[in-house]
Amino acid sequence: TSRTSVVFVHRGTFVHSTPENALQVMEDALVGVDDRGKIAFIGEGKELQKLSQVFGFSSSEVAQLERHEFFMPGLVDTHIHASQYSYVGTALDMPLLQWLNTYTFPVEACFKDLEFAQKVYTKVVRRTLRNGTTTACYFATIHTDASLLLGQIANDFGQRALVGKVCMDRNSSVKHYKETCQESEDEAHRFIKELLNKKYPLVKPVVTPRFALSCSEDLLSKLGEIAKNNNLHIQSHISENTEEVTLVKELFPDSESYTDVYHKCNLLTGKTVMAHGCYLSDNELDLFRETGASLSHCPNSNFSLCSGVLNVRNVLDHKVKCGLGTDVAGGYSSSVLDAVRKTLDASKVLTIQDPEHNTLSFEEVFRLATLGGSQALSLDDQIGNFEVGKDFDALRVNVAAPGGPIDLIQSDGPKILLEKFLNLGDDRNIVEVFVAGRKVVPFTDGLGEI
Ligand code: GUN
Ligand code: ZN
Repeated sequence: TSRTSVVFVHRGTFVHSTPENALQVMEDALVGVDDRGKIAFIGEGKELQKLSQVFGFSSSEVAQLERHEFFMPGLVDTHIHASQYSYVGTALDMPLLQWLNTYTFPVEACFKDLEFAQKVYTKVVRRTLRNGTTTACYFATIHTDASLLLGQIANDFGQRALVGKVCMDRNSSVKHYKETCQESEDEAHRFIKELLNKKYPLVKPVVTPRFALSCSEDLLSKLGEIAKNNNLHIQSHISENTEEVTLVKELFPDSESYTDVYHKCNLLTGKTVMAHGCYLSDNELDLFRETGASLSHCPNSNFSLCSGVLNVRNVLDHKVKCGLGTDVAGGYSSSVLDAVRKTLDASKVLTIQDPEHNTLSFEEVFRLATLGGSQALSLDDQIGNFEVGKDFDALRVNVAAPGGPIDLIQSDGPKILLEKFLNLGDDRNIVEVFVAGRKVVPFTDGLGEI
């Protein structure tokens, strides 16, 4: 009596996280996906007969994974600047505030040109999808029409995305790369209304004050109100660099902390994700937990801009939701796998400095990259792991892909295969990418493979 029909079934190893277990391995599993792209059932190979009768498929329609292959949930990039993909891998020779004024604002100003925006946004969506990012939380630029274009491109390629038109009304080094408070508020409204009108099934708007140094208190409050009235996601940056933290204290003398600046403006909610947070106090982390706001840990950026080292263990001990971000182009890699590795490195640096530090395990970091990211974006009712009723966002990984970066020496079990993929793998090992049940990689758009 199921009102949906199963459209494909995969048989093989599935690895994912649960709230209780950082890593759960299901060997010889059967996973069926329905015509809405949702997981219809998860069973065991030995239940094939029964499941095929209940869900009405024939055993010849079951696709068997190869040896050394497994499915894992799609990677979630909780913080990436789509516009900054235009200079990724360069310009990392100065600290944050100088970097913004010297490189970032002048480049972002170019996105007034829709043709340029189209070119860069197509490249970043294709590249991140190819890298296994099934969900991306994007900063665009202040330009409403170019930001709408990013939403369209993510929709066209089938990537799940939160898209933010950046709002900023002060402290820009570039004369025309700034709005008045009124313009910023009006354009934020227009962006949200027009993006919602498109009814893209996988793309949502996110209210995006750049950060406290780029926004007047007036603008921050207005954006808090807009988010509240429309029940929207919110993203920004917090406590990334010491100079920034000092300046925020000076600009907002009435606030108890950097976190309090946002909290006073209703910007900390259960649908808020803040990037970095390297210098948050335990009291500030408590405020994150109380409000349900989350952190995006962006270790490549934190190292590349010499910003700081976030203690993720302390964040998790405070029960604050946490995901991983590439923070392109403060981070030089657009791959969440890189964020996984640098998260492990950062945790080990903390252990070198303090042997009492409880180092993160690869299983825990795998969870941050998948289920943790979905929780940080408040999308864990829909994605993040393999549960009946969730959308099928998944990577088919072949650890032994021909021409790939991994040599298998022994007959490794699935847990070791996952560890090798996380530490050594790249897009050559990602054979297929599914978002909401649709195969989005390999590409079928005629532009060819990357
Ligand atoms: N803080 C404000 N804007 C930015 C940005 O574009 N990148 C990073 N890393 N930090 C920021
Ligand atoms: Zn950022």
